[in-house]
Amino acid sequence: MIRSVLRGTGSALPRNCVTNAQLAERVDTSDDWIVERTGIRQRYIAGEGETTSTLAIEAARNALEAAGVEASEIGLIILATATPDYTFPATATQVQQALGCRGGIAFDVQAVCSGFLYAMGTADSLLRTGMAKKALVIGAETFSRILDWEDRTTCVLFGDGAGAVVLEAQDVAEDGPGILATRLHADGEHCDLLHVDGGPSSTGTVGKLRMKGREVFRHAVVNLAEVLGEVLADVDMGIDAVDWVVPHQANARILDATARKLGLPAERVIVTVDRHANTSAASVPLALDVAVRDGRIKPGDLVMFEAMGGGFTWGASLVRM
Ligand code: ACO
Repeated sequence: MIRSVLRGTGSALPRNCVTNAQLAERVDTSDDWIVERTGIRQRYIAGEGETTSTLAIEAARNALEAAGVEASEIGLIILATATPDYTFPATATQVQQALGCRGGIAFDVQAVCSGFLYAMGTADSLLRTGMAKKALVIGAETFSRILDWEDRTTCVLFGDGAGAVVLEAQDVAEDGPGILATRLHADGEHCDLLHVDGGPSSTGTVGKLRMKGREVFRHAVVNLAEVLGEVLADVDMGIDAVDWVVPHQANARILDATARKLGLPAERVIVTVDRHANTSAASVPLALDVAVRDGRIKPGDLVMFEAMGGGFTWGASLVRM
Protein backbone atom coordinates (compact mmCIF):
# COMPACT_ATOMS: atom_id res chain seq x y z
CA MET A 1 0.00 0.00 0.00
CA ILE A 2 1.11 3.58 -0.67
CA ARG A 3 1.74 5.55 2.49
CA SER A 4 3.33 8.92 3.26
CA VAL A 5 6.50 8.03 5.14
CA LEU A 6 8.21 10.53 7.42
CA ARG A 7 11.83 10.67 6.21
CA GLY A 8 13.29 13.46 8.37
CA THR A 9 12.59 16.34 10.72
CA GLY A 10 14.07 19.80 11.27
CA SER A 11 13.41 22.96 13.23
CA ALA A 12 14.56 26.52 13.76
CA LEU A 13 14.28 29.12 16.51
CA PRO A 14 14.99 32.86 16.59
CA ARG A 15 18.28 33.97 18.19
CA ASN A 16 16.64 35.85 21.08
CA CYS A 17 15.43 33.80 24.06
CA VAL A 18 13.23 35.73 26.53
CA THR A 19 12.74 34.28 30.01
CA ASN A 20 9.66 34.95 32.12
CA ALA A 21 11.77 37.16 34.40
CA GLN A 22 12.90 39.24 31.41
CA LEU A 23 9.30 39.53 30.23
CA ALA A 24 8.22 40.65 33.72
CA GLU A 25 10.50 43.69 33.32
CA ARG A 26 8.11 45.15 30.71
CA VAL A 27 4.80 43.34 31.33
CA ASP A 28 2.85 43.29 34.63
CA THR A 29 3.41 39.58 35.29
CA SER A 30 5.75 37.22 37.15
CA ASP A 31 7.70 34.02 36.56
CA ASP A 32 5.62 32.30 39.27
CA TRP A 33 2.26 33.20 37.67
CA ILE A 34 3.33 32.09 34.18
CA VAL A 35 4.93 28.82 35.33
CA GLU A 36 2.03 27.88 37.59
CA ARG A 37 -0.73 28.62 35.04
CA THR A 38 1.02 27.50 31.84
CA GLY A 39 4.31 25.64 32.48
CA ILE A 40 6.08 28.17 30.22
CA ARG A 41 9.56 29.29 31.37
CA GLN A 42 10.89 31.02 28.25
CA ARG A 43 10.11 31.72 24.60
CA TYR A 44 12.07 32.75 21.49
CA ILE A 45 11.16 36.06 19.87
CA ALA A 46 12.05 36.92 16.26
CA GLY A 47 14.34 39.92 15.90
CA GLU A 48 15.52 42.04 13.01
CA GLY A 49 15.89 40.02 9.81
CA GLU A 50 14.01 37.05 11.25
CA THR A 51 10.59 36.34 9.76
CA THR A 52 8.27 33.39 9.29
CA SER A 53 9.97 32.59 5.97
CA THR A 54 13.56 32.75 7.30
CA LEU A 55 12.64 30.37 10.15
CA ALA A 56 10.75 28.10 7.74
CA ILE A 57 13.69 27.97 5.32
CA GLU A 58 16.13 27.01 8.11
CA ALA A 59 13.77 24.32 9.45
CA ALA A 60 13.22 22.97 5.92
CA ARG A 61 16.99 22.78 5.24
CA ASN A 62 17.50 20.88 8.52
CA ALA A 63 14.70 18.44 7.66
CA LEU A 64 16.09 17.83 4.16
CA GLU A 65 19.54 17.17 5.61
CA ALA A 66 18.14 14.75 8.22
CA ALA A 67 16.16 12.96 5.48
CA GLY A 68 19.11 12.81 3.05
CA VAL A 69 16.86 14.34 0.39
CA GLU A 70 17.91 17.03 -2.11
CA ALA A 71 15.72 20.15 -2.41
CA SER A 72 15.42 19.42 -6.14
CA GLU A 73 13.53 16.19 -5.32
CA ILE A 74 10.72 18.07 -3.52
CA GLY A 75 7.54 18.35 -5.59
CA LEU A 76 5.23 19.71 -2.91
CA ILE A 77 5.65 22.32 -0.17
CA ILE A 78 2.80 23.00 2.24
CA LEU A 79 3.46 25.62 4.87
CA ALA A 80 1.12 26.14 7.80
CA THR A 81 1.09 29.64 9.21
CA ALA A 82 -1.21 32.36 10.51
CA THR A 83 1.64 34.89 10.38
CA PRO A 84 2.90 34.90 6.77
CA ASP A 85 5.61 37.37 5.71
CA TYR A 86 3.12 38.92 3.25
CA THR A 87 -0.62 38.70 2.58
CA PHE A 88 0.56 37.12 -0.67
CA PRO A 89 2.46 35.36 -2.19
CA ALA A 90 2.30 32.30 0.02
CA THR A 91 5.29 31.91 2.31
CA ALA A 92 5.65 28.39 0.85
CA THR A 93 6.71 29.95 -2.45
CA GLN A 94 9.41 31.97 -0.66
CA VAL A 95 10.70 28.72 0.84
CA GLN A 96 10.59 27.08 -2.60
CA GLN A 97 12.59 29.92 -4.12
CA ALA A 98 15.20 29.92 -1.33
CA LEU A 99 15.68 26.16 -1.56
CA GLY A 100 15.91 26.28 -5.35
CA CYS A 101 13.23 23.69 -6.05
CA ARG A 102 11.08 24.79 -8.97
CA GLY A 103 7.90 23.84 -10.72
CA GLY A 104 6.24 21.73 -8.05
CA ILE A 105 3.26 22.63 -5.89
CA ALA A 106 3.68 25.22 -3.09
CA PHE A 107 0.99 26.83 -0.95
CA ASP A 108 0.13 27.90 2.61
CA VAL A 109 -2.62 26.55 4.82
CA GLN A 110 -4.16 28.56 7.63
CA ALA A 111 -5.66 26.63 10.52
CA VAL A 112 -3.77 28.50 13.27
CA CYS A 113 -2.45 26.10 15.95
CA SER A 114 -3.86 23.07 14.07
CA GLY A 115 -2.16 24.23 10.87
CA PHE A 116 0.56 21.59 10.87
CA LEU A 117 -2.02 18.79 11.26
CA TYR A 118 -4.06 20.27 8.39
CA ALA A 119 -0.91 20.63 6.26
CA MET A 120 0.22 17.08 6.94
CA GLY A 121 -3.25 15.68 6.20
CA THR A 122 -3.36 17.61 2.92
CA ALA A 123 0.16 16.50 1.93
CA ASP A 124 -0.72 12.90 2.78
CA SER A 125 -3.74 13.03 0.44
CA LEU A 126 -1.73 14.58 -2.41
CA LEU A 127 1.16 12.10 -2.00
CA ARG A 128 -1.11 9.05 -1.90
CA THR A 129 -2.95 10.16 -5.06
CA GLY A 130 0.34 10.60 -6.92
CA MET A 131 0.30 14.42 -7.21
CA ALA A 132 3.87 14.46 -5.87
CA LYS A 133 6.45 11.95 -4.64
CA LYS A 134 8.26 13.93 -1.94
CA ALA A 135 6.92 16.78 0.17
CA LEU A 136 8.09 19.32 2.69
CA VAL A 137 5.48 20.08 5.33
CA ILE A 138 6.33 23.09 7.46
CA GLY A 139 4.78 24.88 10.43
CA ALA A 140 6.26 28.35 10.92
CA GLU A 141 5.10 31.34 12.92
CA THR A 142 6.11 34.73 14.28
CA PHE A 143 3.20 35.24 16.69
CA SER A 144 5.24 37.89 18.54
CA ARG A 145 4.30 40.23 15.67
CA ILE A 146 0.51 39.89 16.29
CA LEU A 147 0.59 39.99 20.10
CA ASP A 148 -0.80 42.90 22.08
CA TRP A 149 2.12 43.47 24.45
CA GLU A 150 -0.21 45.50 26.69
CA ASP A 151 -2.42 42.42 27.24
CA ARG A 152 -0.73 40.25 29.86
CA THR A 153 -3.40 37.55 29.54
CA THR A 154 -2.14 36.65 26.05
CA CYS A 155 1.35 38.07 25.41
CA VAL A 156 3.08 35.79 27.92
CA LEU A 157 1.79 32.63 26.22
CA PHE A 158 3.33 32.67 22.74
CA GLY A 159 6.68 32.37 21.01
CA ASP A 160 8.16 32.16 17.51
CA GLY A 161 9.72 29.23 15.64
CA ALA A 162 9.44 26.70 12.84
CA GLY A 163 9.43 22.94 12.36
CA ALA A 164 9.44 20.83 9.20
CA VAL A 165 9.17 17.24 8.03
CA VAL A 166 10.02 15.52 4.75
CA LEU A 167 7.34 13.05 3.62
CA GLU A 168 7.76 10.53 0.82
CA ALA A 169 5.12 8.35 -0.89
CA GLN A 170 6.38 4.78 -0.51
CA ASP A 171 4.93 1.35 -1.21
CA VAL A 172 5.03 -0.27 2.24
CA ALA A 173 3.74 -3.37 4.01
CA GLU A 174 0.68 -3.20 6.31
CA ASP A 175 2.92 -3.05 9.39
CA GLY A 176 5.38 -0.66 7.69
CA PRO A 177 6.00 3.04 8.36
CA GLY A 178 3.93 6.06 7.38
CA ILE A 179 0.83 8.04 8.24
CA LEU A 180 -1.79 5.51 9.38
CA ALA A 181 -4.81 7.74 10.02
CA THR A 182 -5.73 11.42 10.29
CA ARG A 183 -8.88 13.17 11.49
CA LEU A 184 -9.43 16.93 11.08
CA HIS A 185 -12.30 19.09 12.33
CA ALA A 186 -13.48 22.69 12.45
CA ASP A 187 -16.34 24.49 14.17
CA GLY A 188 -16.71 28.16 13.26
CA GLU A 189 -19.27 28.75 15.99
CA HIS A 190 -16.54 29.61 18.46
CA CYS A 191 -14.39 31.83 16.23
CA ASP A 192 -14.73 34.79 18.62
CA LEU A 193 -13.04 32.93 21.51
CA LEU A 194 -9.63 33.05 19.78
CA HIS A 195 -9.09 35.40 16.86
CA VAL A 196 -7.08 38.29 15.44
CA ASP A 197 -9.00 41.58 15.27
CA GLY A 198 -7.71 42.68 11.87
CA GLY A 199 -6.99 41.54 8.33
CA PRO A 200 -6.65 42.81 4.76
CA SER A 201 -10.36 42.62 3.88
CA SER A 202 -11.94 43.72 7.18
CA THR A 203 -9.83 46.46 8.74
CA GLY A 204 -6.92 46.80 6.37
CA THR A 205 -4.61 46.27 9.35
CA VAL A 206 -2.75 43.19 10.59
CA GLY A 207 -4.60 43.17 13.94
CA LYS A 208 -3.77 41.66 17.32
CA LEU A 209 -4.52 38.31 18.90
CA ARG A 210 -7.55 38.19 21.23
CA MET A 211 -8.45 35.21 23.39
CA LYS A 212 -10.90 34.14 26.05
CA GLY A 213 -8.45 31.77 27.71
CA ARG A 214 -10.75 29.91 30.09
CA GLU A 215 -13.25 28.94 27.40
CA VAL A 216 -10.50 27.94 24.98
CA PHE A 217 -9.04 25.69 27.68
CA ARG A 218 -12.37 23.92 28.24
CA HIS A 219 -13.01 23.27 24.53
CA ALA A 220 -9.40 22.15 23.94
CA VAL A 221 -9.48 19.30 26.46
CA VAL A 222 -12.83 17.93 25.22
CA ASN A 223 -12.04 18.21 21.49
CA LEU A 224 -8.52 16.77 21.75
CA ALA A 225 -9.57 13.74 23.78
CA GLU A 226 -12.39 13.07 21.27
CA VAL A 227 -10.28 13.34 18.13
CA LEU A 228 -7.55 11.10 19.53
CA GLY A 229 -10.24 8.52 20.23
CA GLU A 230 -11.47 8.79 16.61
CA VAL A 231 -7.99 8.17 15.16
CA LEU A 232 -7.41 5.19 17.48
CA ALA A 233 -10.79 3.75 16.46
CA ASP A 234 -9.84 4.15 12.76
CA VAL A 235 -6.80 1.89 13.25
CA ASP A 236 -8.48 -0.32 15.84
CA MET A 237 -5.86 0.37 18.52
CA GLY A 238 -5.96 1.48 22.14
CA ILE A 239 -3.95 4.33 23.65
CA ASP A 240 -1.55 1.72 25.13
CA ALA A 241 -0.25 0.93 21.62
CA VAL A 242 0.95 4.52 21.16
CA ASP A 243 4.61 5.04 22.09
CA TRP A 244 4.57 8.84 22.08
CA VAL A 245 2.06 11.67 21.87
CA VAL A 246 3.40 14.89 20.34
CA PRO A 247 0.75 17.44 21.25
CA HIS A 248 0.36 21.06 20.28
CA GLN A 249 2.28 22.89 23.00
CA ALA A 250 -0.29 25.42 24.21
CA ASN A 251 -0.16 25.00 27.91
CA ALA A 252 1.15 22.34 30.31
CA ARG A 253 -2.23 22.19 32.06
CA ILE A 254 -4.05 21.40 28.78
CA LEU A 255 -1.47 18.64 28.13
CA ASP A 256 -1.94 17.19 31.63
CA ALA A 257 -5.73 17.36 31.54
CA THR A 258 -5.92 15.73 28.08
CA ALA A 259 -3.48 12.97 29.09
CA ARG A 260 -5.53 12.28 32.25
CA LYS A 261 -8.78 12.13 30.26
CA LEU A 262 -7.20 9.56 27.92
CA GLY A 263 -5.47 7.52 30.64
CA LEU A 264 -2.13 8.33 29.03
CA PRO A 265 1.01 8.24 31.25
CA ALA A 266 2.73 11.64 31.34
CA GLU A 267 6.11 10.01 30.45
CA ARG A 268 4.81 9.30 26.95
CA VAL A 269 3.89 12.92 26.19
CA ILE A 270 6.56 15.09 24.54
CA VAL A 271 6.58 18.46 26.31
CA THR A 272 8.48 21.50 25.02
CA VAL A 273 6.06 24.25 26.06
CA ASP A 274 8.42 25.10 28.95
CA ARG A 275 11.17 26.20 26.55
CA HIS A 276 9.28 27.26 23.37
CA ALA A 277 5.90 28.50 24.74
CA ASN A 278 3.02 28.26 22.26
CA THR A 279 4.41 28.58 18.72
CA SER A 280 1.05 27.85 17.05
CA ALA A 281 1.48 25.85 13.80
CA ALA A 282 5.19 25.35 14.53
CA SER A 283 4.73 23.68 17.89
CA VAL A 284 4.06 20.07 16.84
CA PRO A 285 6.94 19.76 14.32
CA LEU A 286 9.26 21.65 16.70
CA ALA A 287 8.47 19.23 19.55
CA LEU A 288 8.77 16.27 17.18
CA ASP A 289 12.22 17.41 16.02
CA VAL A 290 13.41 17.83 19.62
CA ALA A 291 12.29 14.29 20.55
CA VAL A 292 13.72 12.71 17.37
CA ARG A 293 17.09 14.43 17.82
CA ASP A 294 17.38 13.59 21.53
CA GLY A 295 16.73 9.92 20.68
CA ARG A 296 13.37 9.44 22.42
CA ILE A 297 11.36 8.91 19.21
CA LYS A 298 12.91 6.08 17.18
CA PRO A 299 12.19 4.30 13.88
CA GLY A 300 9.21 1.96 14.30
CA ASP A 301 7.62 3.98 17.13
CA LEU A 302 3.91 4.78 16.92
CA VAL A 303 3.54 8.53 17.36
CA MET A 304 0.30 10.48 17.75
CA PHE A 305 0.24 14.16 16.75
CA GLU A 306 -2.62 16.36 17.96
CA ALA A 307 -3.54 20.04 17.95
CA MET A 308 -6.35 22.48 18.49
CA GLY A 309 -6.47 26.15 17.59
CA GLY A 310 -8.44 29.20 16.52
CA GLY A 311 -11.52 28.66 14.40
CA PHE A 312 -11.87 26.35 16.27
CA THR A 313 -9.89 23.81 14.29
CA TRP A 314 -8.52 20.58 15.67
CA GLY A 315 -7.14 17.26 14.56
CA ALA A 316 -4.93 14.25 15.22
CA SER A 317 -2.75 11.98 13.14
CA LEU A 318 -1.10 8.64 13.91
CA VAL A 319 2.27 7.92 12.31
CA ARG A 320 4.57 4.90 12.41
CA MET A 321 8.11 6.30 12.24
N1 ACO B 1 0.43 37.57 34.91
C1 ACO B 1 -0.13 37.77 36.11
N2 ACO B 1 -1.45 37.73 36.32
C2 ACO B 1 -2.24 37.49 35.25
C3 ACO B 1 -1.70 37.29 33.97
C4 ACO B 1 -0.31 37.34 33.82
N3 ACO B 1 0.30 37.15 32.64
N4 ACO B 1 -2.73 37.07 33.11
C5 ACO B 1 -3.87 37.12 33.83
N5 ACO B 1 -3.56 37.38 35.12
C6 ACO B 1 -4.49 37.51 36.24
C7 ACO B 1 -5.86 37.98 35.80
O1 ACO B 1 -5.91 39.36 35.69
C8 ACO B 1 -6.72 37.45 36.92
O2 ACO B 1 -6.62 38.31 38.01
P1 ACO B 1 -7.91 38.68 38.91
O3 ACO B 1 -8.33 37.37 39.49
O4 ACO B 1 -7.38 39.67 39.88
O5 ACO B 1 -8.91 39.23 37.93
C9 ACO B 1 -6.05 36.13 37.31
O6 ACO B 1 -4.70 36.23 36.80
C10 ACO B 1 -6.72 34.92 36.72
O7 ACO B 1 -6.94 35.14 35.32
P2 ACO B 1 -7.61 34.04 34.42
O8 ACO B 1 -7.63 34.52 33.00
O9 ACO B 1 -8.91 33.63 35.02
O10 ACO B 1 -6.54 32.88 34.59
P3 ACO B 1 -6.64 31.38 34.19
O11 ACO B 1 -6.43 30.56 35.38
O12 ACO B 1 -7.83 31.08 33.32
O13 ACO B 1 -5.34 31.21 33.28
C11 ACO B 1 -4.73 31.05 30.98
C12 ACO B 1 -5.22 31.96 32.09
C13 ACO B 1 -3.33 30.59 31.31
C14 ACO B 1 -4.69 31.83 29.66
C15 ACO B 1 -5.69 29.84 30.87
O14 ACO B 1 -7.01 30.24 30.73
C16 ACO B 1 -5.36 28.94 29.73
O15 ACO B 1 -4.36 28.25 29.77
N6 ACO B 1 -6.17 28.91 28.65
C17 ACO B 1 -5.88 28.15 27.48
C18 ACO B 1 -5.59 29.11 26.44
C19 ACO B 1 -4.44 28.73 25.58
O16 ACO B 1 -3.48 28.09 25.95
N7 ACO B 1 -4.55 29.19 24.37
C20 ACO B 1 -3.53 29.01 23.40
C21 ACO B 1 -4.09 29.09 22.06
S1 ACO B 1 -5.33 27.87 21.83
C22 ACO B 1 -4.55 26.53 21.81
O17 ACO B 1 -3.44 26.52 21.40
C23 ACO B 1 -5.22 25.31 22.23
